[in-house]
Amino acid sequence: MVKIIHKKEISSTNTWSKENIFDLDDRTIVVADKQTSGRGRFARKWISENSDNIYMSFILKPVKTNQSFEHLPLANLTQYLAVCVLEVLETYNIKSQLKWPNDILVNGKKISGILAELVIKNGQFTGLVLGLGLNLNMSDEDLKQIDKPATAINLETGYKVNKDKVLKEIIDKFFENYENFLEKGFMSIRDKYLRHFYLLNEIVKINFEFNFVEGRIIDVDEKGILILQTLNGEMQEISVGDIL
Ligand code: BTN
Repeated sequence: MVKIIHKKEISSTNTWSKENIFDLDDRTIVVADKQTSGRGRFARKWISENSDNIYMSFILKPVKTNQSFEHLPLANLTQYLAVCVLEVLETYNIKSQLKWPNDILVNGKKISGILAELVIKNGQFTGLVLGLGLNLNMSDEDLKQIDKPATAINLETGYKVNKDKVLKEIIDKFFENYENFLEKGFMSIRDKYLRHFYLLNEIVKINFEFNFVEGRIIDVDEKGILILQTLNGEMQEISVGDIL
C-alpha cells in the first residue's frame, strides 16, 4: 500500500524523510509544493519555488531489520526510477535520454533529476530515500534561474499538464515492476536504459573520486556501472561520478 504525505513547504522532501525515517512506512511518498533547500547530487542546489513542478521522495524499506541488504540493487534504484520517468514522458510523446547515472534530458536539456540517500543507523539499513525533481510547467523566467540548459513537460508538449495526474502516473509506473526490479536488478532495465543512453561513444570529462577523468563512454555494464575508455586506452569502471 502506498501512502502519500503532502507538504506545502518544507526544506527538502529528502531531508524531511531522512529526519522522520523511523516513523515512515515502506512505500511512503512525500510530496512538497515548494522546497526551501532543495538539494541535487554533489551538494548542488535544486531550485524548488515553482509549485507546478514535482518535488517528491519515495521512502523504501525493502529490508527487514537485521537482514542484510548487500544483495539488493539499491544503488540501481535511481536508474530504475529514471527509466520509469522516461516511460511516463513517452506517454506525453516526449522522447528523453538518460545521462548516466540518472539524469533525464530532452534534446540535451535537463527535465528531471534524482537524488538517492541511504539511511543506515548503527550499521543497520533503515531506509532508502529516493528523491525526484521533475519539471512540469515552467516559464522562460523560471528557466533563467537555472544555470544549465533545462526544460519542462509543458515546454515540450505546448500545453500545461496536471500535476496530480503526472504524480499518480509516476507512482503507478514505479510500483508496477518494483518487486521484479529488486529481484532481477539492473539487467531487467539495461536494454531500455541503453536504448536511451545519452553520450554513448562520446568523449566526456567525469568528476570521479575528487578528481577528473576523461575518456570515451563505451558501455554501462550489467551492474549499471559506467565503462569509460580513458585517453590512454585503459578501460575504467566508474560507479559514482558526474559527467560534466
Ligand atoms: C540532481 O539532478 O542533482 C538531483 C535533483 C533531485 C531533486 C529532488 S526534488 C525532491 C528531492 N528533494 C531534494 O531536496 N532533492 C530531491
